[in-house]
Amino acid sequence: MKRTKIKALLSTSQVGSEVLVKGWVRTKRGNKNVVFIALNDGSTINNIQVVADTVSFDENLIKDITTGACIAVSGKLVESQGQGQKVEINASSIELYGKSDAETYPLQKKGHSMEFLRENAHLRFRTNTFGAVFRIRHSMAFAIHNYFNDKGFFYLHTPIITGSDAEGAGEMFHVTTMDLNKLVHKEDGSLDFNGDFFGKETNLTVSGQLEGELGALSLGEIYTFGPTFRAENSNTPRHLAEFWMIEPEMSFYDLNDNMDLAEEFVKYLIKYALENCREDLEFLNNMIDNKLLEKLNFVLNNEFVRITYTEAVSILTATGKKWDYMVGWGRDLQAEHERYLVEEHFKRPVILTDYPREIKAFYMKQNEDGKTVRAMDVLFPGIGEIIGGSQREENYEKLLARITEMKLPQKDLWWYLDTRKFGTAPHSGFGLGFERLILFVTGMSNIRDVIPFPRTPKNAEF
Ligand code: 4AD
Ligand code: MG
Repeated sequence: MKRTKIKALLSTSQVGSEVLVKGWVRTKRGNKNVVFIALNDGSTINNIQVVADTVSFDENLIKDITTGACIAVSGKLVESQGQGQKVEINASSIELYGKSDAETYPLQKKGHSMEFLRENAHLRFRTNTFGAVFRIRHSMAFAIHNYFNDKGFFYLHTPIITGSDAEGAGEMFHVTTMDLNKLVHKEDGSLDFNGDFFGKETNLTVSGQLEGELGALSLGEIYTFGPTFRAENSNTPRHLAEFWMIEPEMSFYDLNDNMDLAEEFVKYLIKYALENCREDLEFLNNMIDNKLLEKLNFVLNNEFVRITYTEAVSILTATGKKWDYMVGWGRDLQAEHERYLVEEHFKRPVILTDYPREIKAFYMKQNEDGKTVRAMDVLFPGIGEIIGGSQREENYEKLLARITEMKLPQKDLWWYLDTRKFGTAPHSGFGLGFERLILFVTGMSNIRDVIPFPRTPKNAEF
C-alpha cells in the first residue's frame, strides 16, 4: 500500500478506505484494552489519531510506542467517535521503525523553554512550534521566488566567497586554506596571500548586492536569495552571524520605485502566509503571540509611512524622551528609536529615507544637498529594520570620489566601477533579511528560533 501523508488524509475524505501512514508518536494514552496514539508526520501541524485494540497487538510493541518513536500504521480510516478529531485510523498493523527511550528522550515532556530547545536544535523540529515555524519559512521562500518570477525578475546566484566587502563595515569571516600555524608575512608585516587558495585575501560575502548590480545592468531586474555572513559581535534577538537575504536589484528604478516594490513585496508575502499557512499561523497565534493574526492583517491593510531621516530625528527630539542612545542629526538610529517611530508614533510600518551619507554605505546615490544619500530603511513593529536599500550612485566620478574619501580598496572594486564607465544607468535595490521577515510572520521573538541552525557568537554546535 502507498503511504498517505497526514495532511492529505485530513483534508480529503477517504473515510472507509484502507490507509498507510508513517510518522512520529506525539502522545499515547489509553487503558489495558485500547490505546490512542497521536501521530504526526510533519506534513501538517495536525496529528492523526490511531486507535489500537491491545488484544490485536504484541504487548511489547504497544509498550515501545512512546513519545518520539517512529511507526508505520495501516488500518481503516473511520469517523471518530471521540472529540477533537473528525477521523481516526483503526489500526490493523503497526510497524515500529525506531524506538525512543522514555527515560532519555529529551522531548518526552511538553512545555520546554525556548533556550532548552535551542540546545536541542537537532530535535526541536519535532515540536509543534518549530514544525509550524519551518513550514512557514519554507512557504515564504517559495513565495519569494513566485513573486519575482511573476514580475519577470531573474534569480541570480551571486558568490558566497568574495574578495570585496560590499557594506564596507569590515565584519567579515576570512576564507583561507593557509596553515594558520605557518603564516607568511610580507616585508611590510602584512600577510602574504600569494600561497593561499585564491592567491588573494577572500572572505564570506556580507551581501550579494554588488554582483547583483552587475546582473541588473544587463538583465534588467534580478534578485539574489542566499546566505550572507557577518562577523559582527551583536548578541541580540535580531542578529545572526549567518543569515539569508533577498536582494532585488532593478535598472531604471529610482528611490520611489524601490519603496513601492519593497512595500508591495512584503505585503505579498504576508498575504501569501495568511492564505497558505493558515493552520500554522493559528497555532502560533494561540501559543506564541495572540496578536499575530491581527498584526499581519494590519500591516497588509495599511500604507507604510514614508518620511525622511531628518523628519524622523525631529519627531524623536520633540518627544523629550530620555533615550539609552542619544538622538541627533548625523547619528545612526538605534532599535529603540526605530521602534518608537513604528510602534508608538505612527503605529504602522515606516520607511525612512535620505540618511546622512556618513552613516551609510559608499554605493548609495548622493543627494544634491551634499549631506544625504538616497537610502531607505523599512522599519517594522517588533522588529525594527527589516529592509535596507537605496538608489545606487550611477555616476562614475561621484562613486570614485566616495570610494577614495572612505579609503576603500579601489583595486578590489574595478569591476564594479566598470559598470559606471560602460553604459551606466539609474538603478536601485534593497535587501530583506529573511529571518527578520520570518520573525514578523511567525510572531517568534528570537531570531535564533526561526533559522534551523543558528550561528551566533560562540555558538556553532550543530
Ligand atoms: O541593511 P543591510 O546591511 O543592507 C545590505 O546588506 C544591502 N547590501 C542590501 C541591498 O541594498 N541590496 O542588510 C539588509 C537587511 C537588514 O535590513 C536586515 O533585515 C538584515 O538584512 N540583516 C540581518 N539579519 C540578521 N542578522 C544580521 N546580522 C543582519 N544584518 C542585516
Ligand atoms: Mg541596514
